[in-house]
Amino acid sequence: MGPIAYALLFSLVAGLAVAEKSDYCLSEIVKSDERIRSHGYPAETHEVVTEDGYVLTLFRIPYSHKLKNQDKKRPPVLLQHGLFSNSDCFLCSGPDNSLAYLLADAGYDVWLGNARGNIYSRQNNLISLNSHKFWHFSWHEIGTIDIATMIDYILDVTQFASLQYAGHSQGTTVYLVLLTERPEYNKKIKSGHLLAPCAFFEHGRSFVFRTLGSLVGEPGGIWNQLMVDTELIPHNNLVNRVVDNGCHMSDTICNNAFIMFANGGYENANASSMSVLIETHPGGSSSNQGIHFLQLYKSHEFRQYDWGTKKNNELYGQDTPPVYDLSKITAPTHLYSSTNDALCGPEDVDTLVREFTHLVEDYRVPVQSFNHLDFIIARNMKQEVNDPIIKRMNSYEDF
Ligand SMILES: *[C@@H]1O[C@H](CO)[C@@H](O)[C@H](O)[C@H]1NC(C)=O
Repeated sequence: MGPIAYALLFSLVAGLAVAEKSDYCLSEIVKSDERIRSHGYPAETHEVVTEDGYVLTLFRIPYSHKLKNQDKKRPPVLLQHGLFSNSDCFLCSGPDNSLAYLLADAGYDVWLGNARGNIYSRQNNLISLNSHKFWHFSWHEIGTIDIATMIDYILDVTQFASLQYAGHSQGTTVYLVLLTERPEYNKKIKSGHLLAPCAFFEHGRSFVFRTLGSLVGEPGGIWNQLMVDTELIPHNNLVNRVVDNGCHMSDTICNNAFIMFANGGYENANASSMSVLIETHPGGSSSNQGIHFLQLYKSHEFRQYDWGTKKNNELYGQDTPPVYDLSKITAPTHLYSSTNDALCGPEDVDTLVREFTHLVEDYRVPVQSFNHLDFIIARNMKQEVNDPIIKRMNSYEDF
């Protein structure tokens, strides 16, 4: 493990230690809606409350000021971010490159989701943010509750029967979880576009898997006990100072800290886009989300959270967690993956494709160096990913 990896691990541990004492200050950052307005687009902020009390923020670009299409039919699209991220990941490369703006300019009503626990969705009407109960969730709950709640809200506001969906990384996992666990939502998805699709991790090459996989990838261990139900890499002063100092010391360290999760170099990365991203990242997640992913790496299965035999029996009525049955997904779905993705790589995408009986398309980005994060920060992502998405989405619309 290199020094940069140690630095990040240190900031992770230190961040965890201060998670409950110091909180980020949302008034000091440029939020998604301000970011959108700064580029001339209209922006709205909506709050939806889940059945278990989480207040989620949805940002919206209702139309394009360039098209002046506010009175035209504008099909809704929901964009969902990945782990440690938030709605800014679809905005950080600006109007000429980032998916949210390109979709607005293509005539869509663009909604940007924020999962429970990230900087825009850190309130619960029933539970305090400082309680461990607040962090007692994984991407299972984000999929089955948050995404479902956001979809229903958007369809209600826009009076459409279905919407288009695009997600990155964990934003693809939650889509798969929702549509397998609550199959009635299949009909609410006009089409789904999964960037860097993550369900299987058997072949994950990232150092994160190698170092943390055995520590927390199985239930019952001491690390697992320590880590469960806490905030993972919060967006607070200390973590930001570490990131900031790293960035001042050298661009390479800074870029590395971000890219190391993806573990794929930064040949395609747009450095300015990355510095925009860093302003609001890491975005805040529960440790259980990370642990749950590491469990998939260990088990080679796409399945629910593993609480150990005893609790599994109480919760699921069986020793091991139930697997997500991908044959239940009938919404038209397109995958966009890349060879150099160290988290959700080509062999694991092959497994997903095999299990995904109704899959429409398995698109592989032709650029060999394209990595996990390039889907949101690459200089060439417009040609390689975003234009292809819009072309496919348009084929489901009648305009
Ligand atoms: C790189 O990111 C900056 C900052 O958001 C943006 O203005 C620029 O258009 C981006 N360029 C490319 C090619 O993505």
